[in-house]
Formats: sequence, structure tokens, C-alpha cells
Amino acid sequence: MQLSVIGSGYVGTTVASCFADLGHEVVNVDIDQEIVDSINSGTPPVHEEGLPELVAEHAGADGTGRLRATTDYDAVLDTDVTFLCLPTPQNDDGSIDLSIMEAGATRLGATLAAKPDWHTVIVKSTVVPGSTEDVITPVLAAESEKTAGEGFGVGMNPEFLREGSAVDDFLNPDKVVLGADDDRARRDMRAVFEPLVARADAPVVETDTRTAEMIKYANNAFLAAKISLINDLGNICKELGIDSYEVADAIGLDDRIGEQFLRSGVGWGGSCFPKDVAAIVAAAKREGYDPAVLEAAVEINEGQPERLLSLLADHVDLDGARIAVLGLAFKPGTDDVRNSRAIPVIRGLQERGATVTAYDPVATDNAREYVADVEYADAAATALADADGAVVVTDWDEFAALDEEFDAMAAPVVVDGRRVVERRDGITYEGLTW
Ligand code: UDX
Repeated sequence: MQLSVIGSGYVGTTVASCFADLGHEVVNVDIDQEIVDSINSGTPPVHEEGLPELVAEHAGADGTGRLRATTDYDAVLDTDVTFLCLPTPQNDDGSIDLSIMEAGATRLGATLAAKPDWHTVIVKSTVVPGSTEDVITPVLAAESEKTAGEGFGVGMNPEFLREGSAVDDFLNPDKVVLGADDDRARRDMRAVFEPLVARADAPVVETDTRTAEMIKYANNAFLAAKISLINDLGNICKELGIDSYEVADAIGLDDRIGEQFLRSGVGWGGSCFPKDVAAIVAAAKREGYDPAVLEAAVEINEGQPERLLSLLADHVDLDGARIAVLGLAFKPGTDDVRNSRAIPVIRGLQERGATVTAYDPVATDNAREYVADVEYADAAATALADADGAVVVTDWDEFAALDEEFDAMAAPVVVDGRRVVERRDGITYEGLTW
């Protein structure tokens, strides 16, 4: 099929490239000419495992030509289906900001006014329940001067892509959720996803757009709450002198619990969990319901950096100390520091009078815009040399190999927030929840 994808962030570029790989003809529309030029030169504008190969194969000079990019919305007119993959940031009160989506829908609707035949628009971005039906569809109808369900169709297809494995997650989904508010849009969505469903043998969930939107939030909120629950239990274990990882391994054998997302520690960050949990909590409150478990999950998550710092303060007088912070990215495998637990840890150290030397294999440049007055080291050993204490905030594999580097510390005190450093003689070691 002829597809158009509006937006070339890590979701839009991944979606466009993977659909081209599945055999569709895809045009990726973005307002940024540099991004468009990058894709058309065969280079992805974002860092994702597997994406360079796909963009080179389908947009590169001697590629299949099934993927191209443009700034011109009129390219939509030569396609059958359009995916909206635009940012949905959060407002200061945690509620969702739909302004970029509305602006995209406005331009898309105005473009569709010139298209005589049917077109299906699919919302891919994470939007709170009701957004597609009550906000996006009316904008499309007004701008295109067409009636939804007659002149155009609308669907909602949430993404479940993790940063660092977005391509693999797209091509090997545990489910494909197709939310549609009219039958013709549903038929178009089935056709678009047919090659993926066949190749990945993935179960398909067909529903309406509101339910599809809620499935996305429930998925992320449940995962975030699962981590906060194991952190809650991990904090109890720490107080009782029990290794929470031994407990987690055992309860993970119960297939009603499952072994994934039971790694307790300094908590969850990233561009999705914090934003999505805040948005669904705000949406619930707007309806007069107080989601106590989700609010508790956020509270526990926000408390983990403090617990890490108080463990460190048990061994080090932080006022005037120099502390090594190992890890800045919100998780390993990415350079993304949005909502990383390293940020409150660094600010907490500085509030206690410590100076900070931080190291991360790839995220240093991004960290500079989030925290000030930090010395950045180009290696863990450099950060640790003569440090009065160290905290581990991101579970990079390379930190597991550290050993004699701790002996170069002024005081070898290590508080591990991610269960990545081996406890051993010669260092004062504290595990956050073990
Ligand atoms: C998440 C969801 O997994 C994905 O399905 C959704 O589409 C986007 O949000 P992502 O934010 O990329 O993906 O990261 P993820 O791998 O889920 O980790 C989120 C956070 O939880 C990270 O900070 C990670 O360190 C933390 N985490 C994860 C834990 O603290 N413990 C765990 O056991 C697992």
C-alpha cells in the first residue's frame, strides 16, 4: 500500500522504515529539512539499533526506493493511509499537551480537502482516551470539509516500542492493537498490518479508538507500577537485611507475576513512563477519580534517589565530598537522559554540599542540558580516582567489570542503585534494595 507517516522522531522513523521493509511504499513527512535530507541520504535522524540498515536499504541511493522523506504535506495525496507520529509532551500539571498533534491534524486535514477519494488517518502517538474521537477527528473533518466515516476514516494504533530496541519491538510485537471508529478504516488497518501479522504471527486486538488509547496507557502504567511495587518490596527487604533479587527471582517463577520488570533499584525514567503515568492520572482526576495505586507508584519512584543518597550519607560526610556518579542515561543502550534517575541523584548530592564527577559511556552530551556544575569524566576510572564515594545509577555492562578502579578512590564507598557492581572485600558496598 501507499503509506504516509507524519513525524520522523524515533517512532515515526522506525514506523516508516519498518513498513517499507514489510513491502509498503512509504513517504515520511517532517517539517525539518535536515531530517528529511538525512533520511533521503539513507541515514536515520535518530539512533536506534537496526534503523541504519533499514533506512539505507529503503531510502539509500541504490536502495529499494520504498522509503522517501519530504517536507511537503501534499505527498499525502498520493497515499492511502497516513500515520500521525507526532510528540505529545506533558503540561506542567502532568496533563497531555495535544497542541502538536492538533497542528499536524490541521495541516493533514487541509491537505485531504484536495483529495477526492477515501483516506484513512491512523493516530500512532500516545494520546489520552478520547483524544482521537473528540479532538483529532473533529479537526480533520473541519479542515478537510469531509465527514468522518464517509469521506475519510480514523483509527488508533498504539506503539509499544522501547528505546534501544524500537525496530525489534516493531517487527516482533507481542500484539497489534487496531482501534477504529468506522468499518472502512478497520479494513484499511488490517491491510496495512497484514504483512507484519503474517510475518510475526502476532495476535491482533481489534477495538474502538478510545479502548486502543487506554490499552497503551494501561500497558505503560502497569509496567511502571510493577517496577514501583518491586521497589517497595525491595525497600522492605533492605530494612530487613534480605536480598530482594533472590525474592524477585523466586516470585518471578509464578507465571501470574512473570520474571520481567522485577529489577528493583533507583527507579524508572525515560520519555514515556513518567509522561504517560502523569497523563492518565491527570485524565482520571479530570473525571473525578483518584488513581491511588498509580499515584503511589510515582511517589515511590520519586523517593528512590533519596534512599540512595541517605545510604551514601550513612558512610560519607557529603558536605565538601567529591562523589563519582556512574551512569547518566535513563537506562543502558541509549544516550537519552530524559527523566533519568541520575538527575535527582546529582541535584541531591549538590544540595548536600558535594561536588560531582559523572561518567556515562554515551549520554554525557545530553546530560549537560539537564544538570549544571558537574565535572564530566571520559572514563569510570577517572571519575572514581580520589573520589570520597560512588553511586551507580545506570546498569551499563561496563560497570560490572570495574574492580581495581575502586581501590583508587580516596574512600572506597560504593552505593549501587542498579545491582551491577559485585560486592567484595576492600570496598564498603551498599545495594539499594539488597
Ligand atoms: C517503555 C515501555 O517498555 C515501552 O513498551 C513503551 O512503548 C515506551 O516506554 P522505555 O521507556 O524505552 O519503554 O524503557 P523500558 O525499557 O521500559 O525501561 C523504562 C525504565 O524502567 C528505565 O528507566 C529502566 O531502567 C527501568 N526499569 C526497567 C527498572 O527500573 N526495572 C526493571 O526491571 C525494568
